[in-house]
Amino acid sequence: MHTQTAPAVAAQGLRKKFQESHALCGVDLQVSPGEVLGLLGPNGAGKTTLVKILTTLLKPDSGQVFANGWNVTAEPEKVRFTIGVAGQYSTVDGTLTGFENLYLIAKLRGVGRRTARRTADDLLSRFRLSAVAGRPASTYSGGMRRRLDLAAALVGSPPVVVLDEPTTGLDLESRLDTWDAVGELVAGGTTVLLTTQYLEEADRLADRITVIDRGRVVAEGTSDELKAAAGNRLVACVAEDHQLDAAARAAAQATGTAPTVDRRTRRVEAVAADGPAALGRALTALQDAGVEVLEIGLSRSTLNDVFLGLTSRARQTAA
Ligand SMILES: Nc1ncnc2c1ncn2[C@@H]1O[C@H](COP(=O)(O)OP(=O)(O)O)[C@@H](O)[C@H]1O
Ligand SMILES: [Mg+2]
Repeated sequence: MHTQTAPAVAAQGLRKKFQESHALCGVDLQVSPGEVLGLLGPNGAGKTTLVKILTTLLKPDSGQVFANGWNVTAEPEKVRFTIGVAGQYSTVDGTLTGFENLYLIAKLRGVGRRTARRTADDLLSRFRLSAVAGRPASTYSGGMRRRLDLAAALVGSPPVVVLDEPTTGLDLESRLDTWDAVGELVAGGTTVLLTTQYLEEADRLADRITVIDRGRVVAEGTSDELKAAAGNRLVACVAEDHQLDAAARAAAQATGTAPTVDRRTRRVEAVAADGPAALGRALTALQDAGVEVLEIGLSRSTLNDVFLGLTSRARQTAA
């Protein structure tokens, strides 16, 4: 059944196994209308499998997925008109021009020639491809090609757009370009599900982040929530190499967590759940141990810390 109040995308208990490999082990996920959800996970986490199920290319072994209220497995043809998708690998035809690619997709979506032409022209201009519209897509730079992919996903103005690793393999400039293009999409009110291996990308583009690893959701929340849940980082830099072990003991005592020691930079770092109080205890402990501190501070966890913490924990529990 189709309802207006339904989340734009909802997956419940999705499981998918390939031979002996469990790609998805019961994934729940929701994307609200107008929201950008970042599905963040390392290579092999199950991102593309989820995208393929959502876009009707693959059937789950069990679980359900809805797009704009349509049950994806029961009504795939409805879903195909609801979701635009740009895959991890380019889907545009390199032998056709940018214009021809978009024009053909529009025609396939069942619109007349004039509307198809206008759609193609509008999208080419929106993605700054008008100047190269008449060139075969195979002559495009990586960034231009990715923009054409994004444009192709937008033909027919689908309310939900799925982008599978939109910037993987791009150079920095093309990545920034693609980020701008995604930003425009979002400004237009489109709901976006974006998969990525890059923390910076999720941090920058996503309203909410679902972290997935080995087919399981290991965390979700806003970037701020994830960082807060990961605690603060206490970092101390000591004057002398021989003081490092004493400093590490002091940091462990102050935070109750196991510090990491970088001997080259003479830095000790530990996760501190109660940041400021732990900093106070660390200062006292370091002083008591007679350690000469050059620098000490407290910082918020980065998304990088969050991600490494989560994925290594998942690895340990799986082992
Ligand atoms: N067609 C397939 N046949 C066998 N194994 C697959 C297939 N597709 C994916 N897998 C496996 O499922 C897991 C998840 O893959 P994938 O969804 O592509 O991850 P991601 O997109 O996050 O890198 C991986 O271990 C991968 O090797
Ligand atoms: Mg993938």
